[in-house]
Amino acid sequence: STDVSTEEALLRSVEELGNASDFLDSPSVARKLGIGHAALVDGLLKSLNAKLAIRLEPVTHNRWEISAEGITYADTTSPEVAFYNTVKEIVDAGQLCMPDQIEKKLAKQVLARGKQQALRRKWIAIDKGTKAFLLNDDAQVVDDVADALRTLRDQDGAPDGLPSDMLKTLKSRKLASLKPFKTFKIFEGERLADARKEQATELTKDMLESGQWKSVAFKPYNFNAEGKPTSGGYLHTLLKVREQFRLIFLEMGFEEMPTNNYVESSFWNFDALFQPQQHPARDEHDTFFLSDPEYANVPDRDYLEKVRRVHEEGGFGSRGYRYDWSEEEARKNILRTHTTAVSSRMLYLLAQEKEFKPKKYFSIDRVFRNETLDATHLAEFHQIEGLVADRNLSLGHLKGIIHEFFKKMGMSKLRFKPTHNPYTTPSLEIHSYHEGLKKWVEVGNSGVFRPEMIRPMGIPEDVTVIAWGLSLERPTMIRYGVRNIRDLFGHKVDLKAIQTNPICRLTF
Ligand code: PHE
Repeated sequence: STDVSTEEALLRSVEELGNASDFLDSPSVARKLGIGHAALVDGLLKSLNAKLAIRLEPVTHNRWEISAEGITYADTTSPEVAFYNTVKEIVDAGQLCMPDQIEKKLAKQVLARGKQQALRRKWIAIDKGTKAFLLNDDAQVVDDVADALRTLRDQDGAPDGLPSDMLKTLKSRKLASLKPFKTFKIFEGERLADARKEQATELTKDMLESGQWKSVAFKPYNFNAEGKPTSGGYLHTLLKVREQFRLIFLEMGFEEMPTNNYVESSFWNFDALFQPQQHPARDEHDTFFLSDPEYANVPDRDYLEKVRRVHEEGGFGSRGYRYDWSEEEARKNILRTHTTAVSSRMLYLLAQEKEFKPKKYFSIDRVFRNETLDATHLAEFHQIEGLVADRNLSLGHLKGIIHEFFKKMGMSKLRFKPTHNPYTTPSLEIHSYHEGLKKWVEVGNSGVFRPEMIRPMGIPEDVTVIAWGLSLERPTMIRYGVRNIRDLFGHKVDLKAIQTNPICRLTF
C-alpha cells in the first residue's frame, strides 16, 4: 500500500481537474508519483474508488512488453552496434579483422546476432579473399533498436512515436511483444471532498474543549478488520479436547463433579476405595506426599470406623485384608493419584441423602503420579471418569454405556479384557480397534465398584455403581498427531501449536 503523501498528492491533482469531464491517466500519474502502475492501481486507486473519492474508467491498451534479451540491449547496445564497434576498433588500429580475433572480444550470443544483423544492414562486409570483416564506408550506424527498446521502457510499453516497421522488427527478433494492458481514466469522485478532509481516528479532549469535534471528519470504523492476533488467551489443546468429552457426557445426561482439590487425603484417594495400606501404588514411588500440611482431618468418625472395619475384618460378604488399619496413614495428604478420589467423595455425599436418587456423574481433571518421565509419561496428567449409580445395574449396563460413550468419539469396535482394580469387581480393560494402526489398543479401564467400597458409605443394598476411566492425553495426542507428550504439556510445550491448533471434533 502507498503512503499518505502519495495519496494526498493524487487527490490534490484530481481536485485540480476542475471540469467533471476532465480526467487523469493512470500511467502518467504513476510516472509523476514515481511508483509502478500496478502499485498505483492496487495500493491506491482501488481503495479510493471504493470510497467514491475518485471514479475510474478502465481503458484496455496494447502494451509492448520487453523480453529479457531486449532488456540487456536496452541497458547497453544492440548486438549489431556492439559487433560494428568491435570491428571498427580493430580496423582503426590498422589490423585485419579476422573472425578468430573478434570472437575473443564478444560474448557468443552477441557475436552471432551482431554479425548476422550488421551484415544484413550492410554495415560490414566480408572480404572474399582474406575472409576479414570490412567496414562499409556508407554505413549509417545508429543504435535504433536499443533506442526503441529504451523508448518502450520509458513509456511503460506504450509504442507512441515508434515507427511500425521498428515494432515489427522488435517483434520478429523476439525483443518485445504486444500484451493487452489495462489503465484507468481517473475522474473526480462524488465524495472527493470527504476524502480530502483529514480523518480523525479518535475523539480527543482537545476536540471536545475547542468544539472542533463538530466539524472533524471521523474515520469510519472498519468492522471487518480482524485485529491483531493476541499473544494470550488461547485454549490449550487439552482443554479443547476436554470440552468435547464434556459435551459427550452432558449429551448423555451426566453431571460434572467438582474436581478443584488437587490435594487429597489418602483416605479418599485410597482407603475409602478399599485399597489396602500396603498397596504398592501408595508408597513413595507412585504417590506425591505433602509435607505441609502433612495430615488431613477425617470428618465423619462413624464412616471412618466403618472403613477401618472393612479393611481389618471385612463385611458385606468380604473377609477384609486382616491387618491393623492405621488412621495416621489414611490422614496423610497427597496429590490425588486418580479422579476416582473425587468419585469416592461424591458417592459418600450421595449416600448421606435422605432418599437415594440415581445419579450419573463425570469428571475430567488433573491427577499426579511420581513416575519416570518419558515421551508418553508425565508426573501430572488428566483423567476422564464417568460413573452411574442406580438400582439393579449389571455388567451389561456397564458395557452398554461404555459402547455408547466411545461410539460418540468414533470408536465402535470395542473389546473388554479382565483386569484387577482394588476397588472394582469385576474389572474390565477397554480395548478399541484402531483403524489407522490396524490393531487393538487399550483405551480405558472400568468396573463395578466393590461392596467393600460403597456399602460402608451407606449406598443402599440394591444400588450398584458402575464406572470407567481413561486419560485425556492419549486421545489428544492421537487427535493432534503429537508424538511426544512434552510437546503437549509442561515447560517445553509448543506455544505456536497451542495458538494454531484447530478446534477439536471428536464426533464424526
Ligand atoms: N481410577 C482408575 C485409574 O486410575 C480408572 C478407573 C476408573 C477404573 C473407574 C475403574 C473405574 O486408572
